[in-house]
Amino acid sequence: MTAASASPLRLGIAGLGTVGIGVVKIVQRHADLIAARSGRPVVITAVSARDRTKNRDADLSNYAWEVDPVALAARDDVDVFVELMGGHEGAAKDATEAALAAGKDVVTANKALLAHHGQALAEMAEAVGHVIRFEAAVAGGIPVIKALTEGLAGNQIRRVMGVMNGTCNYILTRMETAGLPYDTVFEEARQLGYLEADPNLDVGGIDAGHKLSILAAIAFGTKVRFDDVVLEGIGRISIDDIRRAGDMGYKIKLLGVAQMTGRGLEQRMTPCLVPASSPLGQLQGGTNMVVLEGDSVGQIVLRGAGAGEGPTASAVMGDVLDLARGLRLPTFGQPATTLVTPVAAVTSAPAAYYLRLQLMDKPGALAKVATVLGDAGVSISRMRQYGHADTSAPVLIVTHKTTRDAIDLAIAAFPATHVVEGEPVAIRIEEV
Ligand code: NAP
Ligand code: HSE
Repeated sequence: MTAASASPLRLGIAGLGTVGIGVVKIVQRHADLIAARSGRPVVITAVSARDRTKNRDADLSNYAWEVDPVALAARDDVDVFVELMGGHEGAAKDATEAALAAGKDVVTANKALLAHHGQALAEMAEAVGHVIRFEAAVAGGIPVIKALTEGLAGNQIRRVMGVMNGTCNYILTRMETAGLPYDTVFEEARQLGYLEADPNLDVGGIDAGHKLSILAAIAFGTKVRFDDVVLEGIGRISIDDIRRAGDMGYKIKLLGVAQMTGRGLEQRMTPCLVPASSPLGQLQGGTNMVVLEGDSVGQIVLRGAGAGEGPTASAVMGDVLDLARGLRLPTFGQPATTLVTPVAAVTSAPAAYYLRLQLMDKPGALAKVATVLGDAGVSISRMRQYGHADTSAPVLIVTHKTTRDAIDLAIAAFPATHVVEGEPVAIRIEEV
């Protein structure tokens, strides 16, 4: 039997936006290549979206149209339900559950759905012998789920780290290269269509936090715990911080870090400084980078497009081809019922910190700040005062390794010195 005459894998696609149409285009453009590689044709039988009259830049005339994605998910002529609508409640969740209940495998790009309901959905799928695949949900076109669940399956993972929201990286690098303030670049990103419908998903770190929580589950054999991710967005990062961090040899990134420690699972998605010369420091624009560290492999760095029609559809199709080839793995790399509930731990590992203070220009001011830092157990590594035309001047301090608690203690003590104006900025310097 030839690949062309083998029984086709039949897709039902719910969601015909950026990613859904990208998938339709690949299925149509690469039908022969896909059949050759998977040993059988992959075809689309039915599709669903909200507005049937919308011009979608693809020929959908051969596919049945379902108004209701739940009905699409349960159709007899659908083997794999491809969920590309988005959102962690409503249609995406209902239709995914309906597909599993009807005995279908599921491919999704929906990180919010998995971050909130991944455990329940995985248990549901595995109880009935079905599979949920979600390569596109984390870092778009970068095959990071495959890397963790397959290529690195023989490693104990030590740390997962990365820049996983292209919009934030675009904003931060554009602020730097164009010398523009946050608000201006935020508006530019909106005009370019980079921002999610709710921009706080991007700039608040939530979207990237969803992705980190999914990677952590696979890396550490734990249930997805998005609510335990320590989140801080990029809204407080100023052009001054970007410039001054640059002067000290660093870049500011919205960096996700997950690691299992003796105290529990640390997950944080927060602005961090990284060395400008490091791969993460050199990451420009909307590109994503994921760094994986395993006990045998050491460190590997994956870099590529984290979003967009082609890259995201590429990841969806990787999952579809795996299903067409008969590759069936547990959702998070091991049976969902064996995933353990992690103890949430807040990062306590010491790190150097970047501190920016607005210091009054009068005798003894710097000495008072140094005393407060010393009393809190914070040792100064480097310091720089900037020129000024006013009665106060920006002062930058890079500390030796210390704890966040010690930094917070010092910050709480600054007002009593009467020489520090406004809110100091403190950002962790991550060892990458
Ligand atoms: P999108 O362009 O907004 O498209 C969403 C599609 O879903 C639209 O076709 C919409 O229909 C349809 N839809 C929404 N609610 C529906 C409902 N209740 N019933 C039927 N159809 C419904 O979104 P997208 O950018 O393609 O993203 C899709 C998924 O991929 C999301 O989970 C997103 O987080 C994820 N993702 C996206 C990217 C990216 O670069 N865009 C990257 C990685 C992951 P109408 O067209 O009729 O409005
Ligand atoms: N809003 C996301 C980003 C889209 O900017 O990376 C891809 O998940």
